[in-house]
Amino acid sequence: MVQAQETTASVQNWLEEPEFTPEVEARMAPVFERVRDAISAEEWPVLAPWIDEILRLKKERNAVILAHNYMTRDIYHCVSDIVGDSLALAQKAMDVEADVIVSAGVHFMAETAKLMNPSKTVLIPDPEAGCSLAESITGDDVRMLKRTYPGVPVVTYVNTSVEVKAETDVCCTSANAVEVVNSLGADRVLLIPDRYLAANVGAETDVEILTWEQGRCEVHERFTPEQIDRLRKVYPNVTILAHPECPREVVEKSDFSGSTTALANYVTEKKPEEVVLITECSMSDNIASQNPATRFIRSCNLCPHMQKITLMNIRDCLLHMRNEVTINPEHEAPARQAIQKMLDLKKA
Ligand code: 13P
Ligand code: SF4
Repeated sequence: MVQAQETTASVQNWLEEPEFTPEVEARMAPVFERVRDAISAEEWPVLAPWIDEILRLKKERNAVILAHNYMTRDIYHCVSDIVGDSLALAQKAMDVEADVIVSAGVHFMAETAKLMNPSKTVLIPDPEAGCSLAESITGDDVRMLKRTYPGVPVVTYVNTSVEVKAETDVCCTSANAVEVVNSLGADRVLLIPDRYLAANVGAETDVEILTWEQGRCEVHERFTPEQIDRLRKVYPNVTILAHPECPREVVEKSDFSGSTTALANYVTEKKPEEVVLITECSMSDNIASQNPATRFIRSCNLCPHMQKITLMNIRDCLLHMRNEVTINPEHEAPARQAIQKMLDLKKA
């Protein structure tokens, strides 16, 4: 396993603030060629030195970067090895053979990677990158819900702490919530903690859905049905794609709803002339360059937690091998089981 103390002389000698030297420009020229539709020539001199260092550190540390679809363009296109939604990142984390995983996303994603591949060193560039859904509920809250609704299965969104996952029967993501709920064969299910995801799943299943009223995504709850009406008025041909963390009325007025990867796939496969993604802004930035035939209308909110992850703190965590994710051993086995049960469903 790679240890911080093993930092080599070459790494130690690197500048804290790398510069855009002619050598960096030459080394990074093939990368720029690959991403020039996503990153402009004006931005490149600022970004390239950081990208150069990250790519060198990844080799030196034997590390891979797993990046969520909400990462900024520089991270998404230039340094990540795997990009995807929460489900894909959990699945892919299991297959990583490298010594180190850098989780470019929020804290629950890094914890999930560590749970699913515990022998690896998992680093999070900024441990303060949280999630309003994960913070809305504690293990005590789940224990209280289980006492209130004895025998009702508990499905937990992956956007939760390990302690909360450990209290639940099975996890779900936005990509498979309906399938997970239906798989339980129960009349009633507790789907926590996102009240809006619960409402959207409830509309697609005959199972009665109970939820946790306090849970909301602070980014998606800001979208309103009036905003969708306005978009349709101004852009009559627009296709509207919404994430299921949005309020029910927003999803109802949209043309399609799905996980971040499902939204991206919709654009790639259906090639709408004009599209608006009712989700975090970075998504449109990331997929616009891969879909030149589609015009992206920007109507977006930024996730302050996802935005905490930058090229600089990715470089720093790899350079100093810091911000390693650890899991409370008390919660580890039951939390892993709840995620594994969700992943096994796909195989069944
Ligand atoms: P996805 O699993 O759809 O990528 O969503 C994760 C998330 O945090 C959305 O806000
Ligand atoms: Fe959490 Fe919402 Fe940010 Fe996703 S967008 S990480 S659900 S706060």
